[in-house]
Amino acid sequence: MEKQWKNKVALVTGAASGMGLAAAKAFADEGAIVILTDINEPTAQAAEIDPTGERAIAICCDVTDEKAVEATIQQVVSTFGSLDFAFNNAGIQTAAVELADVSNEVYERILDINLKGVWNFMKYELRQMRKQGSGAIVNNSSLGGLVGVPGRAAYHASKHGILGLTKSAALEYATQGIRINAVCPGIISTPMVQSMLDEEPEAMDELIKVVPAKRLGTVEEVSSVVLFLCSSSASYVTGQAIAVDGGYTIQ
Ligand code: NAI
Repeated sequence: MEKQWKNKVALVTGAASGMGLAAAKAFADEGAIVILTDINEPTAQAAEIDPTGERAIAICCDVTDEKAVEATIQQVVSTFGSLDFAFNNAGIQTAAVELADVSNEVYERILDINLKGVWNFMKYELRQMRKQGSGAIVNNSSLGGLVGVPGRAAYHASKHGILGLTKSAALEYATQGIRINAVCPGIISTPMVQSMLDEEPEAMDELIKVVPAKRLGTVEEVSSVVLFLCSSSASYVTGQAIAVDGGYTIQ
């Protein structure tokens, strides 16, 4: 176990499933205390990581609810004394629809969860981290933060927005011991992608055809980059959007 992680406090949003759960497990494996937050209470997932409840706790929190986000950060700090790492990961995807036909409800829901959810958490994480004078945040964007894909305008707008938040905040806190980066996963094998595969198998086949690696990524291939970005090995890395996409966005 590396000293840099021991007893450090790591918070993950959307931690009940997929990349969030994998990152929570990876932080815990390194010796950090992990807070799993999700709209679907991640009690069983936290208990699987640490049955004693001392080094992994679950908090039910909707990322769109600012009051609940503020209360979550307060609970973390009052319980563990600090917040060292955050992976702002919660997000949703919807079926591909041509922009002219996307309803305002769908647009607002995607922007609310994917972008405002990251904004809400960053705000209260940064209030704590600037008090400490230390911390590292990783936001989960997407290949959708770097390029466009037909039918995905609202999702891609939300994911491009995350990179705007990441870069601006990185500049604001660069001299305060706080680093803020983003990961941009490609097509990763998670429940979210599985449900897309079920709904639109042809669209997904088309996408995979243009992945240079010709396979889906794994959640561990993303969580290892998240931990690198939080680690002291990345001490001079801030404001970056790291693609973890089997080469998708370099074509
Ligand atoms: P997932 O569906 O397995 O996990 C997402 C988690 O977010 C779920 O546990 C869900 O309950 C939670 N969540 C949804 N709405 C929430 C809310 N309002 N408040 C709190 N939690 C909420 O999805 P996956 O694939 O692990 O995705 C994680 C992130 O990665 C998302 O932001 C997604 O957009 C992004 N992403 C996913 C890719 C993929 O190929 N799976 C590719 C690129 C980015």
